[in-house]
Amino acid sequence: QRPAETAAPGTLDALRLATAQCRACPIGQHATQAVHGEGQPGAALMLVGEQPGDQEDLRGQPFVGPAGQLLRRALEQLGWSREALYLTNAVKHFKYELRGKRRLHKTAGQKEAAICSQWLEREIGLVRPRAAVALGATAARALLGRAVPIGQTRGQWLRRADGLPVLVTLHPAALLRMDTPDPEAAFADWLADLRAATPIMA
Ligand code: URA
Repeated sequence: QRPAETAAPGTLDALRLATAQCRACPIGQHATQAVHGEGQPGAALMLVGEQPGDQEDLRGQPFVGPAGQLLRRALEQLGWSREALYLTNAVKHFKYELRGKRRLHKTAGQKEAAICSQWLEREIGLVRPRAAVALGATAARALLGRAVPIGQTRGQWLRRADGLPVLVTLHPAALLRMDTPDPEAAFADWLADLRAATPIMA
């Protein structure tokens, strides 16, 4: 971030700059940069993941690593227009543990995720989507303020206290890790979950 960078108050750009400075929990000290959401105010649907991974941390963009590529493949197959989407994460910095030279993803703790939810809430306030999709348990908890069993609720719409509908489904990394003889069937089931949000895009 350039020191002279400024943005009009109350905009997503201003929020991005504020998020970049955040050290309210320790994760930000070790990450390369904060990864803010991607998309425009007024996007109909907000997709919320867990946290940036190694590649997102290096590039400063959400969903560009392996899990992100799977998500982007799903979005193409769903035919959803990119302008109608806002992609973001529940936690804005990459949490990892060093294993030799490799940085291995470490799930953010509940306390860290709770502190970070201020940024997601401000994104929701500025984007004002018609609905959100929680990709996995961390996103569901951040959006709904309570733990949600993903296996039992996937494909269902839940509602936040502020009325925003939230569609719950798996995180794409869970699909990549899934021990199944038929990954394409698992992908098709995931698409079927996501398709419940297609009317939001109309
Ligand atoms: N996983 C996430 O939850 N978000 C990303 O941006 C990348 C991987």
